[in-house]
Amino acid sequence: MSHGDAPRPPQRPLPPRSVTIRCRIDGPLVVELSPDCYDLGLSLRVTDHEGGEHPLPDDGRPLALCRCGHSARKPFCDGAHKTIPFTARQIAPSPSAPDVPSADQTPTGPLDEHKRNPP
Ligand code: FES
Repeated sequence: MSHGDAPRPPQRPLPPRSVTIRCRIDGPLVVELSPDCYDLGLSLRVTDHEGGEHPLPDDGRPLALCRCGHSARKPFCDGAHKTIPFTARQIAPSPSAPDVPSADQTPTGPLDEHKRNPP
């Protein structure tokens, strides 16, 4: 079995009025809108760094954003991640895990320092 054939974990139902970005194991970032988002008239756009809009693929598949860097149609996934040794298996921390700091205990990093003391 190649890494692209890994069994998919069971999917949880999407919370109402939500946009979920799901990190696929060894694959793209899949953007999922709860069904009621469409009823609410919400739309989804993918833009470049200048705000130019990338037309969304119209292939009927879930929107998947490349994170391996090898897609020929970036920023969207074209499946190229299956042909390279790309691994991305970060597991989200459990909310009950004792080593997960709460928001007010989160250590500061360089970005936080940059916000406090911009150049
Ligand atoms: S994640 Fe699929 S082509 Fe990059």
